[in-house]
Amino acid sequence: MRIENKLPEDFLWGGAVAAHQVEGAWNEDGKGPSVVDVLTAGAHGVDRKITEEVKDGFYYPNHVASDFYHHYKEDIRLFAEMGFKCFRTSIAWTRIFPKGDEQEPNEAGLQFYDDLFDELLKYGIQPVVTLSHFEMPFYLVKQYGGWKDRKLVDFFVRYSVTVMERYKDKVKYWMTFNEINNQKNYRYPLFGYSCSGVIFTEEENPEECMYQVVHHQLVASALAVKKGHEINPDFQIGCMIAFVPLYPFSCRPEDMMYSVEAMHDRYLFGDVQARGKYPSYIHKEWERKGFHIHMEKEDEKILREGVVDYVGFSYYMTNVVEAGKEEEGNGLDGFLGSVGNPFVPKSDWGWQIDPVGLRYALNLLYERYQKPLFIVENGFGAIDKVNGDGTIEDDYRIAYLKAHVEEMKKAVLLDGVDLIGYTPWGCIDCVSFTTGEMKKRYGFIYVDRDNEGNGTLERRRKKSFFWYKKVIESGGEIL
Ligand code: BG6
Repeated sequence: MRIENKLPEDFLWGGAVAAHQVEGAWNEDGKGPSVVDVLTAGAHGVDRKITEEVKDGFYYPNHVASDFYHHYKEDIRLFAEMGFKCFRTSIAWTRIFPKGDEQEPNEAGLQFYDDLFDELLKYGIQPVVTLSHFEMPFYLVKQYGGWKDRKLVDFFVRYSVTVMERYKDKVKYWMTFNEINNQKNYRYPLFGYSCSGVIFTEEENPEECMYQVVHHQLVASALAVKKGHEINPDFQIGCMIAFVPLYPFSCRPEDMMYSVEAMHDRYLFGDVQARGKYPSYIHKEWERKGFHIHMEKEDEKILREGVVDYVGFSYYMTNVVEAGKEEEGNGLDGFLGSVGNPFVPKSDWGWQIDPVGLRYALNLLYERYQKPLFIVENGFGAIDKVNGDGTIEDDYRIAYLKAHVEEMKKAVLLDGVDLIGYTPWGCIDCVSFTTGEMKKRYGFIYVDRDNEGNGTLERRRKKSFFWYKKVIESGGEIL
């Protein structure tokens, strides 16, 4: 019997970006400033600064980014050349509601996404849209204290309904909040700030505040799912979690048990979004810590009714945790209690490269939720060199992606995981989220721009561009 070596015909091969990391045009056509517009550039080991406003004398890399706003037609033509079946991006909330609390949307912003989605559909590329990918209106932070204020639920729902109504015949796949679970790492300011406009370390009880903030987002997410289904019952609306499986350091029972406990941090918000209620372990934790998370009477019902259709997730790496070392780990590229894994290499940014971990992740998530999965981010951030003749030989990226696609295929073809698609991150070079650098590149398409904002913004096909084109053409058979 012949063993199938291809992914199904309708598998969604594509690529992913987020509005603020590619679009630029940060103050054009009525767009308001978002939280990332006051984020400076950092580097590996150097934190991005969060400034009080857009200030002279600072460099804000997202203001221009890859200038996708003005180049999208050219870029989509290149995606089509690679054979993309889908393209994941986000809508910048601040193009639609510049301050966030207005009653009426900004028509120019809505028109931009109409044009963008039409351009994709012209080539048969399905838009996959995240409603909020680290780009909430800065005004909501200043005026309301971000997601600490429950009013944000209404603002977000108004925004979500506006765009879902407008694009109901153009977009089928949606996600609510990008990597909502990043905030679980409340010790590192960037995560809370980008997800919810709150710097938890400045709060009296950072951890309790984080749970309150996230509760508001979980309610908002569930309402968006529910209303989305009313707008168009064919919508597929997912959650989006950063999934970093945590291996036990050894087979010592204490390490094993600690890895189970530590995984609760990874699962928590996805558990609520995919199962419609808070899991028992978190009630126990809140009880132990004396936390009181304020919930309205109707919240339980809202969460129950707003269960997602699929689980979207990003996968870049695994981590290892060891019992007894709970307070170690630097919180950015590691987790509390995380220690090095001697069996896997690391990228220049310290991210552990573990393709088998992707198959493991797919199995864990599928067994836990029994819902379709969507790998909406995966990829290798690296420094690329342009040769004298203009070529870019990114064999390291090809090697990374090839190994991950191989494992992804095993999960589908051998383990029977129901997988919707695969959209590698930063399919066109964009600004790094954690460091604000341009030189941490993920793309199949090179963008001529450097860390200081120099460059022509010219686009070039990398070697991986031609590799990925073949992968898609062959349904994943030729790697
Ligand atoms: C995910 C985010 O955390 O990882 C993206 O959803 C981000 O926004 C990506 O860009 C890669 O991280 P970085 O820091 O290398 O850009």
